[in-house]
Amino acid sequence: MEITQPTTQPGKVTPKAPEKMESDLSKLANNLVTKIHVLMRISQIYDSKNVALHQFIQESLQTINTLIEREGVLSLKIIKDDFFLNGQRLRYSVEGFTSFKYLLTQWKKRLIGEVIFESLVDESMLREFVYTLINLEEGREENATLFNDQLASRHITSIKVNPLEIVEGEEKAFTLQNEDHQEVAKKVFFETIGTIKEMLTQIKGKQYADVRKLKRLAQKAVHLIIEDESILLGMTTIKNYDEYTFNHSVNVSIYSLAMGKRLGFSKKTLTELGITALLHDIGKSKIPREVLNKPASLNEEEWGIMKKHPLMGVEIVLNLKQLGEINPRMVVGIFDHHLKSDLSGYPKLFRKKEVSLFGRIIQIADSYDAMSTPRIYKKTPYTPEQALAIMLREKTVHFDPLLLKIFIGLVGIFPIGSLVLLNTRELGIVYKPSHDARWLERPIVILVARDEKGDVKKEVIDLTETDGTGHYKRSIVKTLDPYQYHIDIAKYFL
Ligand SMILES: [Fe+2]
Ligand SMILES: [Fe+2]
Repeated sequence: MEITQPTTQPGKVTPKAPEKMESDLSKLANNLVTKIHVLMRISQIYDSKNVALHQFIQESLQTINTLIEREGVLSLKIIKDDFFLNGQRLRYSVEGFTSFKYLLTQWKKRLIGEVIFESLVDESMLREFVYTLINLEEGREENATLFNDQLASRHITSIKVNPLEIVEGEEKAFTLQNEDHQEVAKKVFFETIGTIKEMLTQIKGKQYADVRKLKRLAQKAVHLIIEDESILLGMTTIKNYDEYTFNHSVNVSIYSLAMGKRLGFSKKTLTELGITALLHDIGKSKIPREVLNKPASLNEEEWGIMKKHPLMGVEIVLNLKQLGEINPRMVVGIFDHHLKSDLSGYPKLFRKKEVSLFGRIIQIADSYDAMSTPRIYKKTPYTPEQALAIMLREKTVHFDPLLLKIFIGLVGIFPIGSLVLLNTRELGIVYKPSHDARWLERPIVILVARDEKGDVKKEVIDLTETDGTGHYKRSIVKTLDPYQYHIDIAKYFL
């Protein structure tokens, strides 16, 4: 999240200096929203007296009190779909999105529009605050009053809330039917990331993970893929290496579903494929962090550990509580996802076998996403074009050539999210393939430009458009590396 500041971003092709470091306040604001988000989440798991909360509450207090000391009073207010910190609008980034959305939804549901910290707070006040907030009944109009009364009864005067101000015409903004596909896709995408994260934590803590929630999300994703796949495909441009494992699983699932759709899979099979892809790396939850996040190449021993993740994944999945949701095809898919066509991958097999269809699909999606995502040990990833070129070079040994062909057809010559240079010297981001399949080289692009306020302007251009004399208004000259131009592609898809 960042505080909105007017920034200029040239539409023309000149590599610009890296964006200015976020201001202190912006970082603190970001931190504040995340902390309140986590507090609200854990308060639903533990009771208010639980000691496990102590450490986290202390950390949250530090963020809140630092802000109060600095700003005097701290107000976090919702206006329409935005948060304002002491009157300044917060702009969320990819990292902050989950927290931002969670707070916005949860507060709106409880009709709370503003929280004000009037002076420094301590642990017991913060506990009271968060438990009172979470226990408010959804949709009850008197919530703000009830909240303030409850805190006053505990002699807490430094925290107050105000009711949500409903802006005209916005009453139904949070009902599903009023949201367009883009909004639903965003929700499903981030909710799935959150659910995978939750499952991994549960598995690490040797608790039962619930696969039914994942199934529901996979069903929603299948629906979206069938309706309009380009929206979810666009979301795969969100590359966040802090949350790599979760983000990666969701991306692999989106690519796999889009391939399954082209293969004519039924909704049921697509859902199974989606769940398998979401769980393909679940075995990594048993790999030590030092190995998983090592910022350098792995040594032989570490590789040995890493290579166990498909098998560990199988073991985990077979131990899930709702085993009824899992069938052998899904288990085999997880086991197979690193085997490779010539079985030169891992795990090493004693006997030859065919790599399963789910395994072959996921392997392609997995390789592409891994190559096009920045990692701790490789911060500048391959461009979509480079990644596809590498995969094509290795096609006969590592991939199913036919499936790879389908995959390339799917991501296109100019994959969604590619940064392209146009003959008008403008920069564009590939947004969707052309409506007409004959025009593979003329996709729909968003121009890279910002308005006077520095907000990303989403001007969508169809490259098949002509100027009346039979000439195309714009054409792609070549693809460019977004990292060189310091352009955060994902911002254009949110
Ligand atoms: Fe894997
Ligand atoms: Fe993977």
